[in-house]
Amino acid sequence: MKNNVSVIIGTQWGDEGKGRLIDLLSKNADFVVRFNGGNNAGHTIIVDGKKYPFHLIPSGILNPKAKAVIGNGVVLDLEVLAQELKMLEEDRIKLKDRFFISDRCHLILPYHKALDQAYENAKGDKKIGTTGRGIGPVYGDKVSYNGIRVYELVRWDLFVEKFTFQANIKNEILKTFTVAEIDIKKELEKFKKLRNIILPYVTDTFQLLQGALKENKRILMEGAQAVLLDVDFSAYPFTTASNTVPGAINTGAGIPAQTLGKVMGVMKAYTTRVGGGPFPTELIDNVGDQIRETGKEFGTTTGRPRRVGWLDLEAVKFSCEVSGITEIGMTKIDVLSGLKNLKVGIGYKLNGKSIPYSSCGYKELDEVKVTYKTLPGWNEDIRGARKFSDLPKTCQEYVKFIEKFLGVKISIVSVGPQREEFIDLRK
Ligand code: GDP
Ligand code: IMO
Ligand code: MG
Repeated sequence: MKNNVSVIIGTQWGDEGKGRLIDLLSKNADFVVRFNGGNNAGHTIIVDGKKYPFHLIPSGILNPKAKAVIGNGVVLDLEVLAQELKMLEEDRIKLKDRFFISDRCHLILPYHKALDQAYENAKGDKKIGTTGRGIGPVYGDKVSYNGIRVYELVRWDLFVEKFTFQANIKNEILKTFTVAEIDIKKELEKFKKLRNIILPYVTDTFQLLQGALKENKRILMEGAQAVLLDVDFSAYPFTTASNTVPGAINTGAGIPAQTLGKVMGVMKAYTTRVGGGPFPTELIDNVGDQIRETGKEFGTTTGRPRRVGWLDLEAVKFSCEVSGITEIGMTKIDVLSGLKNLKVGIGYKLNGKSIPYSSCGYKELDEVKVTYKTLPGWNEDIRGARKFSDLPKTCQEYVKFIEKFLGVKISIVSVGPQREEFIDLRK
């Protein structure tokens, strides 16, 4: 087997522009595969002015030559999936024989969403700031042997039996939170309809992808969330519930690790975070507001304003190391135009001593003092730049400084959300 598998992952706290780069790279892919997370993800692609916000279906579906696969590591909200299928059908995007769902995927059920929200409300100001999509509870059920999968949905009697059993137990828990219980009969009717929409796409995706590997097909793995939200490597509990590092392609889609060639880390030219948790380079001032407005930093999934800060290279360096990132796709550098000076975090200090990101828990990350490098900004609108030399000198220096600090090649610089707005440095 050749190393024909590439993976794209986020290097920060999500929303780096992964969807936008997957759309670009999927031109050269035979398969695009999601392997983790659920519809907490929101991957935006803009084609000919039309916006496609993908939550579950791999973003590569817009490339007519690629097949799109939802691997077993993904958790599925069937209502969201049905809506996405409808959006694509309305646009006459072919799905038959090119979209596949693993029967091993766990289902996000109404009680997962209710529990997610109930826990958040109960935690008050200590809440995580989840997307409220039931992600923590569904993965919790998965690893405690209480999950229900597409497998059961296929065998309807099993689904009815398991759903009724679990929903009765979850209703007891919901009662203790004094929130509305699940109407089991009504939900079963809903799932019976949704089942019919989904079943045509369900298959053994392991066999499908094994076949693709044997035929040396090019496989692009679409990571959701980002390394700093990885359930093991985040500042737990300010995390998401799945592993987001490239190793998850093995557990989340059955792709052997040694088939992995390229690992592209997507990095925004500054930093954003949605929800709670530490954010050492956060800007709570006019500069932060300006970046939020210019960068349209409002969540694709929840519409929440994203928290904004300077680029944190100490954290991105960690992401590169833990993920074996071989190249970086840099996005949204156009958003920084017009700022006189740009600051970049290059290290942390705690009580006067240097401390690496990996040694910090959420308490330490809240307390660290960031060491900054200040670089001069630029005023020009750079969305028309297509060659590196089209960028203002100070912008070129910003990119080069980051590349040198991380020791990883920046292979794509995205200068706008539209398909064609990027500088290709791959050759
Ligand atoms: P993802 O979750 O990593 O796929 O990212 P999102 O789609 O949630 O958020 C990225 C947002 O930035 C989307 O609205 C994109 O259309 C937009 N975007 C992506 N790349 C660029 C870029 O280079 N410049 C600008 N201005 N916007 C971009
Ligand atoms: P994409 O793929 C940004 C964040 C939530 C919250 C934490 C836990 O679009 O980059 P969860 O609902 O997963 O239990 O929430 O993780 N989060 C994301 N933030 N982009 C995402 O996905 C995210 N997925 C989860 O905001 O802080
Ligand atoms: Mg997103």
